[in-house]
Amino acid sequence: MLVSAKEMLEKAKAGHYAVGQFNINNLEWTKAVLVTAQELNSPVILGVSEGAGKYMAGYKTVVGMVNGMMEELNITVPVALHLDHGSYEGCLACIEAGFSSVMFDGSHFAIDENIAKTKELVNLVNEKGLSIEAEVGSIGGEEDGVVGKGECADPKECKAIADLGVTMLAAGIGNIHGKYPDNWEGLSFETLDAVQQLTGDMPLVLHGGTGIPEDMIKRAINLGVAKINVNTECQLSFAEGTRKYIESGKDLEGKGFDPRKLLAPGYEAIIETVKEKMELFGSIGKA
Ligand code: 13P
Repeated sequence: MLVSAKEMLEKAKAGHYAVGQFNINNLEWTKAVLVTAQELNSPVILGVSEGAGKYMAGYKTVVGMVNGMMEELNITVPVALHLDHGSYEGCLACIEAGFSSVMFDGSHFAIDENIAKTKELVNLVNEKGLSIEAEVGSIGGEEDGVVGKGECADPKECKAIADLGVTMLAAGIGNIHGKYPDNWEGLSFETLDAVQQLTGDMPLVLHGGTGIPEDMIKRAINLGVAKINVNTECQLSFAEGTRKYIESGKDLEGKGFDPRKLLAPGYEAIIETVKEKMELFGSIGKA
């Protein structure tokens, strides 16, 4: 059964590790993440952007697939199904469809409007026992058409949003979705430290987990990050595995064109990436 992300993130914050949010795109992605979490006895969050939700034929399809898979594969570790960078309407649709967690990304609104909309959604999810992530200071780069500038959040605004009773808070600290450019200045630990000092026990979320050096990930966890989002890195691994299979002509040998064979190397590559991340984030054995 899907769970809210509240308990797993409170435990992670208290235990100084982070739970990975791995964005899913299709059945292979979902299965790769779920079986890995189960094998490593790790809690996990499945992230679904609005674009990925549409691609997978709608939120209800996603809920049906994930619930069915959890039952058939005997997945017993805590799993949250979470809308990533949701609009207000997207959050409502996911709550209705059966997601256990939503992110309302109001970072592009003026802070008063972000607060007002986040508050309405907090009241709604609380009634239903779901979890909610809010964002202050937009995350840089482009994800599914959502473009952010990569700002550093204002710690006082973070406190105002945290005080609304959100479950977790994403604060921009110079992080960017997708690959980091060569001239990237790194995470702003000064901002992160200031945010954590004002928000206390609130689990903080680090977006743009792809390509952040290991030492920065560990420092971020020490400063209160309890959830780390990874999307692009699994896409790169999947593409590389699939490319090698095709470039070596395996799809042309025997029944190598069978999608169950063709997609297998990419699937295995996602599993390897998820394992590496769970190890780095320290969530193995924490289910
Ligand atoms: P990356 O694509 O950089 O891994 O970021 C993922 C993310 O933050 C999803 O919200």
